[in-house]
Amino acid sequence: MINVAVLGYGTVGSGVVEVLESNKELIAKRVGDEVNVKYILDLRDFPGDPYESKVVHDVNLIMEDPEVSIVCETMGGAGAAYKFSKEALSRSKSVCTSNKELVSLHGPELLNIAKDNNCSYLFEASVGGGIPIIRPIVEALTAERLDAVMGILNGTTNFILTKMDKEGADFDTTLKEAQRLGYAEANPEADIEGHDARRKIAILSSLMTGKHVKDEKVYTEGITRITAADFKFAHSFNATIKLLGMAKRAGKNEAEAMVSPFVIGNEHPLATVNDVFNAVFVTGNMLGDAMFYGKGAGKLPTASAVCSDVIECAKNLGKNLSCDWSDEEVKLLDVSDVERSFMVRFDAAAVNEIKNAFGDNISDVTLDNEMAVLTAPMKESDFNAKCEALKDAVHNRIRVL
Ligand code: HSE
Repeated sequence: MINVAVLGYGTVGSGVVEVLESNKELIAKRVGDEVNVKYILDLRDFPGDPYESKVVHDVNLIMEDPEVSIVCETMGGAGAAYKFSKEALSRSKSVCTSNKELVSLHGPELLNIAKDNNCSYLFEASVGGGIPIIRPIVEALTAERLDAVMGILNGTTNFILTKMDKEGADFDTTLKEAQRLGYAEANPEADIEGHDARRKIAILSSLMTGKHVKDEKVYTEGITRITAADFKFAHSFNATIKLLGMAKRAGKNEAEAMVSPFVIGNEHPLATVNDVFNAVFVTGNMLGDAMFYGKGAGKLPTASAVCSDVIECAKNLGKNLSCDWSDEEVKLLDVSDVERSFMVRFDAAAVNEIKNAFGDNISDVTLDNEMAVLTAPMKESDFNAKCEALKDAVHNRIRVL
């Protein structure tokens, strides 16, 4: 029997117990041994819960029990979760986690501790919830040099942008609806300001480069300044607007990594990813493009991803399942040095100045005395200087993919 401890009996932790129990027989068949939840660690008691008897409050019971060989860290945060993960790994207990914050901050260190102690640190559930993306990158695409990884990495913001796109609603009304439906938190900042997507692209770009992309260094813009008018103009260019996490290789030792809303042509596969769904689009030097699509959040999809890691660890006890992610820091390009196009929404009265600055790919519609232009590609610093010179005539600008 292989014993597992679950740290944190919240949404994902309780889902992990549910998946391991519901699929007990098929998991045993695939592992070749029974996988048993021996402990559930939480500060709370759960009277009446079917697994009440497994709940413990003292983490030392788990750490000191030699029968526990796998720990699922579903606590979140980078405080106790960091301490417990280090301790479990240094005692040769593999750790499987959904904790993107911890993985993005301390991934290389935790991977090294796992390596030194012949166990594994796996984090399939940290990006894209139930979408298999970490193991495909680490294993199935291991013969590739990945040149770009980008995706819709946050379900809450994709739900909001999809509603704005389809219904012409404004941001505030749509956010309130998302909160009423339970898709957005009462405090939605981590989602709408792009912090959640930033942690996920930091992990993906680290795997793309094999080095550490520090989460706090990833340029991040959320979706709060996107308006119903921006969508109308995007439509006039046969495009939509999506919040993307994106990373691109730039030269041998550099990369571009950012989270930002992008205007994206309707023909791009990411333009068709709607509602709370997520998708990750990767470009390999041999493979070309591939897209992974599915449920990026939710109790059971996320728990299923954690359990897939549990099964991997259970099949490889005493071994280290490694991945190419060193602690050497990647040099990230300054966003102002990158060349791209922009969609600019502007005061229609300034159309001639706008044409002089950005060319004549102007929207064929005028709405409330505004028009929009799609610029030619230019360095972002040059673009900003032109906008500065046009002063109040520029009402919004969105990067174009
Ligand atoms: N709030 C996140 C989302 C949950 O909306 O995608 C998964 O990280």
